[in-house]
Amino acid sequence: MPPDTSAHLLAWYDVHARVLPWRSRPGTPAPEPYRVWLSEIMLQQTGTATVGPYFGRFLAAWPSVADLSAADDGAVMQAWAGLGYYARARNLLAAARVVACSGWPSDEAGLRALPGVGTYTAAAIAAIAFGQRAVVVDGNVERVVARLFAVEAALPAARRTLYALADALTPAERSGDHAQAMMDLGATVCTPRAPKCEACPLATICAAHAGNAPERFPVKAAKAVRPVRVGTAYWIEVDGYVLLEQRPPRGLLGGMLGLPGTPWEQENVHSATLSASHPGDITIRHVFTHFELRLSVAIAYHAARPDLPGEWHDAATLTGLPTLFVRAAEAVLRVRADAALSPNLALETA
Ligand code: ADE
Ligand code: SF4
Repeated sequence: MPPDTSAHLLAWYDVHARVLPWRSRPGTPAPEPYRVWLSEIMLQQTGTATVGPYFGRFLAAWPSVADLSAADDGAVMQAWAGLGYYARARNLLAAARVVACSGWPSDEAGLRALPGVGTYTAAAIAAIAFGQRAVVVDGNVERVVARLFAVEAALPAARRTLYALADALTPAERSGDHAQAMMDLGATVCTPRAPKCEACPLATICAAHAGNAPERFPVKAAKAVRPVRVGTAYWIEVDGYVLLEQRPPRGLLGGMLGLPGTPWEQENVHSATLSASHPGDITIRHVFTHFELRLSVAIAYHAARPDLPGEWHDAATLTGLPTLFVRAAEAVLRVRADAALSPNLALETA
C-alpha cells in the first residue's frame, strides 16, 4: 500500500466529510468526549439518520455526563425507546456513573473497561475525542478494506486480517479524521451496492476496482437461518387504559416498558396453539439479532381493572415503548378502528 494512501483519504475528507451533529469539522478541535461516546454508543447498531434526533434530545435533556449520571433510569430508558438494543441504554447509565465519579479514562484500554464500550467504540473515542492513534474498524471500514485489498477470505473469519490491514492504513496523526473518513467513504462512495469508484479518492490503488468486481467483496460465509420463537402478549384494556409492565432488568428489552405476556419460546413448543389461530388474530413478526419473534396479541376488554401487577397507561397516548410493542399497540388500535367501522367483526369482550 503506498504510504500516502491516508493523506489522499484525508484530503478527500477535508472536502467531503459529512456534517453530523456529534462531529467537529475536519482539522478543527475535537468534540467533547461525552458527545463522542454518546454518539458512538447510539451508532453501534443504528444508522446516522435515526441517531441524529435521539442524540439531540439526549444532549438537550442531559447536557453533560454528570447530568446523565444523575438521571432517572426510567427517563433514560424511555428516551432510548425506538433505538433498539436496550442493553446499550442500561450500559450508558452505568458508564455515565463511572465517568462522573472517576473522570474519563485516558486511553483505549481504560475506555474498554467502561460498560458497553468494546474494541470498536474504545478505538473510536480514543481517536476522535482524544486524538490518539487507534484502529477503528466497523462494518463500513471492513467493506472498504476488503475491497482495497481484494481479500478473498470470508467474514467473519476474515475479521483479524481486515483489522491488520486497517491498522496498516491508520496514520499516526489525525487518526480520528482518518477513521471517520473511512466511515464516510463506506457510507457515501464505497457503498454495499453499486459503489461509486469513479468518485473514489482511493480508486488508483484499489485491488477490487482493478479487478472490476468491487461488489464481490467482502466475501461472506453463508448465513445460518434465524430460529423462530413464539409468544403471546396481552392487551388488557379498561376504559381506554391499557396495562403495561416494566420488563425485568436483564434479558431482551430489559428495563423497558412492555405488554405483559408469556415467555418467548422455540416455535415447536407452541405449534399446536399457533395452528389454532384464525384470521383476525394479530401476530407481529419482529426480527431480533438471534431469532425472529412471532408475537400473538390477545385482546381483552374488562369493565374494571383486574388486580394485576403493572401500570395503567392511556392507550391513545402511549410513549416510551420499544418498537416491538409500538407495533403491537398500532395493530390493536387498527383492529379496534376496523371493528368500529364494521359491526360484524366483533371483538371478544371479557
Ligand atoms: N458510525 C459510527 N461512528 C460514526 C461517526 N463518528 N461518524 C459517522 N458514522 C459513524
Ligand atoms: Fe470502494 Fe471502488 Fe473506492 Fe475501491 S475504488 S475503495 S471499491 S469505491
